[in-house]
Amino acid sequence: MNPEAQALYEDMKIHLGKFVPDFELYYKAEIAVEINALKKERNAVILGHNYMEPVLFYSIPDFKGDSLDLSRKAATTDKDVIVFCGVKFMAETAKILNPSKTVLLPAEKAGCSLAESITAEDVRALKRKYPGVPVVTYVNTYADVKAESDICCTSGNAIAVVESLKSDTVIFLPDKYLAGNVARETGKHIIFPSISPSPIIASSGGEMRKGDEENLLDVQLIGWNGRCEVHEKFTVEDIRAVRKQFPDVAVLTHPECPPEVVAEADYSGSTNAMIKFVQQSNAPHFLVLTECSMGDNIAAANPEKDLLRLCMVRCPHMNMITMENVRDSLLHNRQVIEVPEEIRVRAFQAVDRMIKIG
Ligand code: 13P
Ligand code: SF4
Repeated sequence: MNPEAQALYEDMKIHLGKFVPDFELYYKAEIAVEINALKKERNAVILGHNYMEPVLFYSIPDFKGDSLDLSRKAATTDKDVIVFCGVKFMAETAKILNPSKTVLLPAEKAGCSLAESITAEDVRALKRKYPGVPVVTYVNTYADVKAESDICCTSGNAIAVVESLKSDTVIFLPDKYLAGNVARETGKHIIFPSISPSPIIASSGGEMRKGDEENLLDVQLIGWNGRCEVHEKFTVEDIRAVRKQFPDVAVLTHPECPPEVVAEADYSGSTNAMIKFVQQSNAPHFLVLTECSMGDNIAAANPEKDLLRLCMVRCPHMNMITMENVRDSLLHNRQVIEVPEEIRVRAFQAVDRMIKIG
């Protein structure tokens, strides 16, 4: 092993040794050194989402963060190449914001169940059904869907974005649970129109009143039936079972969790906001209900905190990004993310409006 890899291995053993087997640290330290050399050679920046596996998260990103944070970094980088260690909609957002750069996504098929739940034609159909109603789309959508929207939002700013529109009625797509949580926070109620993939469903985030479909004046959030395949799995019973054993646990949830789960928790926020909460709180135990690699990453960075683990769900899409395919993406220039210019300029408006809100 070369001295640089040896030093990285020793360092990772101290910080990650509790979470990652020794042979894995040893093997990946050598790849990390290769990646960091390629990064210099190609004048690249590596952006790492909070859900990356612990060794990758620790060893190679120049910037780590949530979707909003990484979008901002992508927009302002002066490097030639952006390697996005995240999923496709995130890499597309980087390309939308900074089109002169080469944007690489190490795993071509790293998708997202939310992004796949809705098409641009679905958004056009909603706009025909509700003319003049502003459309907010979660960044977890593909570029052509963003292009049909007035403004995007992330989990970190969804409420601020909805409130910025100063409109009684807002189309909010495609996450039905995020919409339910925004509805609860803003005091709005929510309906799911009949063109949504499943029939009208009431959300516990806000009551759907009889006649909402016909009475648009009384409607406040028009939702869609998309769901995150990771966060939909957490239940109120999970939280209650942990509280029984640890009554003083602080429970944190991502707002992609069902509204009844969020209501049962002590705090809900974007991945960055949850990390900050753990850093700043003196709670004796934490339960972080989100993708399970993030729990390892928080625990590794905060060894003095007690993180209870309910690690049952790894995002299969985030999980496709590996040390090996990050190295290969830089070596072979793949997978290059392209967004047709006509779509990009329209999507840019929606993402840029969001970034300006903060
Ligand atoms: P954040 O923007 O909070 O990082 O969330 C992204 C995501 O995909 C959560 O599942
Ligand atoms: Fe999409 Fe859920 Fe995976 Fe996030 S965790 S990328 S929302 S499937």
